[in-house]
Amino acid sequence: MIEPIYKNSAAAIEDRVEDLLARMTIAEKADQLMQLPVGKDVDPNNVGEGQFRPTIGSLLNSRMGAAVHNMYQKRAMEESRLGIPIIFGQDVIHGCVTLYPQSLAQACSFRPELVRACARHSARESVAKGYHWTFSPMIDVARDPRWGRVVEGYGEDPYVNGRFAEAAVKGYQGDDLSAPDSIAACLKHFAGYGWSEGGLDYVYTDISMRTLWESVLPPYRCGVEAGAVTIMSAFNDISGTPAVANRYLLTEVLREQWGFDGFVVSDWGAVKQLENQGMTADPDKQTKYCLEAGNDMDMVDQVYANIPELVATGTLDQVVVDEAVRRVLRIKFRLGLFENPYFDEASQETAYLRPDAKAAAKALADETLVLLKNEAGALPIDATSIAIIGPTADHAECLHGSWDCCGRHEDTVTIHEGLKQRFQGVLNYAKGCDFSGDDESGFEPALLAAESSDAVVLCLGEIGLWTGENQSRSTIELPEIQERLLDAVIATGKPVVLVLAHGRPLGLHSIDPKVDTILSVWQPGTMGGLAVADALLGKTNPSGRLAITFPRTTGHIPTYYCQRPPARTGKQGRFKNIETAAIYEFGHGLSYTSFNYSDINLSAMEIREYDLLTASVDVTNIGDRDGAETVFWYLRDPEARITQPVRRLIHFEKIDLAAGETKNVSLTISPMEHLAYLDNKGKRILEPGQFILEVSRLAVAEFILKPCNA
Ligand code: GLC
Repeated sequence: MIEPIYKNSAAAIEDRVEDLLARMTIAEKADQLMQLPVGKDVDPNNVGEGQFRPTIGSLLNSRMGAAVHNMYQKRAMEESRLGIPIIFGQDVIHGCVTLYPQSLAQACSFRPELVRACARHSARESVAKGYHWTFSPMIDVARDPRWGRVVEGYGEDPYVNGRFAEAAVKGYQGDDLSAPDSIAACLKHFAGYGWSEGGLDYVYTDISMRTLWESVLPPYRCGVEAGAVTIMSAFNDISGTPAVANRYLLTEVLREQWGFDGFVVSDWGAVKQLENQGMTADPDKQTKYCLEAGNDMDMVDQVYANIPELVATGTLDQVVVDEAVRRVLRIKFRLGLFENPYFDEASQETAYLRPDAKAAAKALADETLVLLKNEAGALPIDATSIAIIGPTADHAECLHGSWDCCGRHEDTVTIHEGLKQRFQGVLNYAKGCDFSGDDESGFEPALLAAESSDAVVLCLGEIGLWTGENQSRSTIELPEIQERLLDAVIATGKPVVLVLAHGRPLGLHSIDPKVDTILSVWQPGTMGGLAVADALLGKTNPSGRLAITFPRTTGHIPTYYCQRPPARTGKQGRFKNIETAAIYEFGHGLSYTSFNYSDINLSAMEIREYDLLTASVDVTNIGDRDGAETVFWYLRDPEARITQPVRRLIHFEKIDLAAGETKNVSLTISPMEHLAYLDNKGKRILEPGQFILEVSRLAVAEFILKPCNA
């Protein structure tokens, strides 16, 4: 018997797709477009077992491991008529078993190459765990820290999110998507989820076309250009059209303008949620609207089970269904699932927490720590005894954060444990208080620890699950009990280093004036405690820079660096009761050394549209210890028919500088790439005039873009 083309691995993928598609019944096509949760999973959302069928397209969120997944796959390959393999998905957001810092912390490293390396390790561990597909990277630009998911993206800047989107996609997918250690990436949540009104989750997002093209879409364009093969449509209603049914986004932009040929999966239950959002309660319309918009796969709610009936009645054109199935099959072929549907069960014990993965986790964590303040030079600590106090001191979960996948608390080095391993002197630990509540009974032992030590490391912050999905908070300030503990410890007169383990930017208006030294450690992952200990003791030199602004208080939200200039300046348009400026702005971060910038050297003072301009600057480490400096290149366009942000990041580069070393850093500016702005249809507009280049807000240079005919 002649082997069907779709089973011939030597045949072209598009030929295999078409051959298989032609053989499928409408019921088999509908099942390929549905995804089910299986297994006893901790997530109360999961609807549990008992719904499996051999023709299902995808299973998600199971932590039951490769052997069980192989059992499901065997049923799909042998009990179904055509033997179409299942694609197994999971939220591998910042690591699978080895956990890396949370994404927002990763962005603060400004080291995309380290993120790419960690994503490679995550991919390898994911395959060992029985996953083909991660619902990552999350690249939702976000500027409201009340929104719990601010922690999952790469901060407030579109360009930064784009650089890390590219790094993560290339890390997960590798050079060969069908390789045994590659997994499919998924850009999410497309799009505009970060504009959630009031910082709540799942709510309306009012997004102008300008904001959409200028701030929301750029990271997704980068991810698509990096080769991401799947995209997850978002929960949010985008100015009246929910993302899952938004044809403009899912088809006109994604397919027709950007040429994306992978598939789009809805977010959990989003098809059915069109009822809640007031679009339609009719499941037939839900399916029709979403499929016709370009949402190919239905996560969990199985509304798409009505496809056969909709096609039979002529309500839904089979052509639309076929195109969705074509996309899903295409990615399954590209992943090599037809040739290698099963997971290697033998690799289980050697695949996780490998020394190289932990070394990558440590290296990235080292670079994510942000030294916010170090006025009395209390860091690095030089003491013979240290009191380590506070709710985040001996607590693994707060170093994991949300979406910790298959990570285990027992594998994580806490800050206390890290100091135990690294500090040679006397270490006195006391918890002091819980994360919240009113119980001060732990204060006394904490103060005794402080009084019997040379210095205090006070570890405050957030429980890991205070950020993440459905974790909005009406205030970004720490619970009062933590600030009362801070006050009591400060009253002992000992030098205090404040360490903050947190997911969202915190409101530090009342805390900041009380302490001279603050180290933000975010949620640094499996090796977090060692990274923090090394920074505290000076074994490493903190080099993180904020990828998101810390508003002074909750009332200062939104505050971000690339705001548009106000109509009035000076004292006008400011708060009357409190300082208006952010307490720590995007790009802020100190070091144990200092860096000096020369003036910017420009290859020309005037250019035309097709000229290239080279800007360069010397950066010198003028301190007595090695360090790393992120060089930020900002553009200011002070006069434009469509007003522009005060400044816009167009490039960053992190460089290592030995004590006393100078490096020349340069950027080649192409007018259409760097100077043009996007109109509200995504068209690049290049307007002649004056431009200002700023390097790390320290060096400034002006130049002119002349009109073509001048
Ligand atoms: C969740 C999240 C999404 C995640 C998906 C699968 O509701 O919104 O980010 O990937 O469901 O767990």
